[in-house]
Amino acid sequence: MRLDKLLSNASNLTRSQATKAIRQGDVLVDGVVAAKGAMKVTESNKVTYIGVLINEPKPRYYMLHKPEGCVSANKDKHSLTVFDYLLVPRRDQLHVVGRLDKDTTGLILATDDGQWSHRMTSPKHKQTKRYRVTLKDPITDAAKKKLEEGLLLDGEKKPTKPSLVKVLEPNVIVLSIHEGRYHQVKRMMLAVDNEVTALHREAIGNIGLDAGLAEGEWRELTAQEIDLSKP
Ligand code: URA
Repeated sequence: MRLDKLLSNASNLTRSQATKAIRQGDVLVDGVVAAKGAMKVTESNKVTYIGVLINEPKPRYYMLHKPEGCVSANKDKHSLTVFDYLLVPRRDQLHVVGRLDKDTTGLILATDDGQWSHRMTSPKHKQTKRYRVTLKDPITDAAKKKLEEGLLLDGEKKPTKPSLVKVLEPNVIVLSIHEGRYHQVKRMMLAVDNEVTALHREAIGNIGLDAGLAEGEWRELTAQEIDLSKP
């Protein structure tokens, strides 16, 4: 909707008073002075009039095709972060839902909705994470069985939960897991005397990486992707 319309709807200003207030520089959109009443704003923009918030911005949800070499933190002194690619307003209010290692590529989610990210990551909700894993050595039947049944990771006492392994090529598998331990995939492969040479996350729960996104590209999630009520 137009900014002047939103402002007059949300305050007791008439449309022409709203236009004047915008021209005077009294209205900020996402922290930046709005130039024109005709500017289009969405439900996600944060709009203030003389410093007072006049709308309740809707939570935001994004997927990014993470390239290799960027980190999943909000800020980093030495490396690019996912937020150097996800160039949206108020990035400082977003957080990553389920980190990936610096050298891992693929699906990364970011939101400002803490409850949603908790449901996506908490072990209770068992969201499946699906990875394409390239291995140093061909996978053996015995290793596949161990990975699927659950195995002990170095330094841990509890075995991993059962997983699913699909062999695409001798050195390439698709691994679906339901937990998110530290460096879990790489450590699972070490536990079967193999090594990950490339790791790519394809999906989390019902959300698959959009094949139309090149590395470094992002899009908003659809209402269907955000909806966690369906298994
Ligand atoms: N497991 C890993 O070892 N690394 C990742 O980035 C994700 C899962």
